[in-house]
Amino acid sequence: MNRRILIIDDDTSMLDTLRAELESRSYEITVESSPEVALRTLAEGDFSVVLTDINMRGMSGVDLCQEVVALREEIPVIVMTAFASVESAVGSIRAGAYDFVTKPFTIDALVITIERALKHRELREEVKRLRRVVDELHPCDEMVGESAAMKRMYDIIVRVAETDATVLVTGESGTGKEIVSRTIHARSQRSSGPFVAISCAAMPEPLLESELFGHTKGAFTDARSARPGLFAKASGGTLFLDEVGEMPLGMQAKLLRALQERMVRPVGGDTEISFDVRIVAATNRDLEAEVRRGAFREDLFYRINVVQVQVPALRERENDALLLAQSFLKRCTSNRDGRVVGFKSAAAERITSYPWPGNVRELQNCIERAVALAQFDHIGVEDLPDRVAHSTVTRTLPDTCDPAVILPMDEVERRHIGQVLVALNGNKASAARLLGMDRRTLYWKLERWGLAAARDGNGAPRPLDGGAEELRRVS
Ligand SMILES: Nc1ncnc2c1ncn2[C@@H]1O[C@H](COP(=O)(O)OP(=O)(O)OP(=O)(O)O)[C@@H](O)[C@H]1O
Ligand SMILES: [Mg+2]
Repeated sequence: MNRRILIIDDDTSMLDTLRAELESRSYEITVESSPEVALRTLAEGDFSVVLTDINMRGMSGVDLCQEVVALREEIPVIVMTAFASVESAVGSIRAGAYDFVTKPFTIDALVITIERALKHRELREEVKRLRRVVDELHPCDEMVGESAAMKRMYDIIVRVAETDATVLVTGESGTGKEIVSRTIHARSQRSSGPFVAISCAAMPEPLLESELFGHTKGAFTDARSARPGLFAKASGGTLFLDEVGEMPLGMQAKLLRALQERMVRPVGGDTEISFDVRIVAATNRDLEAEVRRGAFREDLFYRINVVQVQVPALRERENDALLLAQSFLKRCTSNRDGRVVGFKSAAAERITSYPWPGNVRELQNCIERAVALAQFDHIGVEDLPDRVAHSTVTRTLPDTCDPAVILPMDEVERRHIGQVLVALNGNKASAARLLGMDRRTLYWKLERWGLAAARDGNGAPRPLDGGAEELRRVS
């Protein structure tokens, strides 16, 4: 961080003194006696701290503070007040000053304040940098999932969000097409504008047309007053056309014309209105097949399929089902007594191995139901719907109570932990969380069983490496 300080004071002898004193302490000093000129200097230069007098001709230090904050919010401002006036000090802090010094002050006291301001600035930049890193690591905070398929999708979302291109989101029912569309909006330059969603399924053409384009007064029997359409409501934001594959053919032609001309004509009206809207459309149908079948217009397909984001089915997402299950569990217990805190291992196994044809939505419903049904503080297989509970998975425990087959507790635990680690690609932190076990306890047990070499999933070795193989052999 540089040590460039801009000092503003209309008392030039004060400026000279401060410059001499601070330069001798290796700060780079620029001085300005006019607040207006100082603001221009500030806009052009790269300063770390601003030091300003509070009583100046032309502009008060408090006003100057406000201007500096508006212009360069990251630069801390230190205000010099003429006397111990609480009012002016409070005023400057309220205006966004970082701190104040009361005249007369010693240079040493000023230097301490300047150094704190520099440190403060450095910390803020560090926080900003870390936030960017976190953002890059997990760009779509609302969305849970760390599988390779999801990471590929996050990558596309981040890139496409920056553009204004029309996006087609495809994926099976319940995969999260709407949440993806919202994320695209939230990360776009339009994020402060509205996100307006409409489902095109099961809507007759006239209704859909007036919903989208609006209507004039008297356009039809019920139209007692004019109403703007969703293209107008979404102005400056994103219009989400859900289930676009089910739009009636007649409406498809009208939508195509609107998108080509970037104008809509309200029902009953004779003037066209331009719109400023980004379109994101979603479908769980195979639109190309619909085009071949003649149920979807080819020209509209090309118009909306500028960029396609394919949301993977849940069964293609490695162990995301378990991560999602945990997140849904947390979500539905946080607003209640928090009675249910986790999953029994057998339930976790079913959740991982069941193929989830209804995708994330099915999983979410299943967890909500299980939380409502659970008799203990951990969800068991018996709390899962039959279809999930009876999916075929490797069992941890034998079905029988034949004394010859019964395993010692320690062995059961070793096998079970081994299986969970294999399922989680050796990620011990996640395993400990899932097992409701302290991480150190898990490490200690692995060490005892000679499995400490099994590496963490977030370490350099990739999933299912030697560590996981080793676990697979013992279990
Ligand atoms: N990755 C995810 N992380 C967290 N929640 C998710 C994720 N994906 C989906 N969901 C949740 O699952 C539910 C279904 O998602 P969404 O409505 O976006 O799916 P969809 O693909 O639009 O489904 P449909 O085709 O049935 O309309 C929602 O409650 C959503 O919040
Ligand atoms: Mg949907």
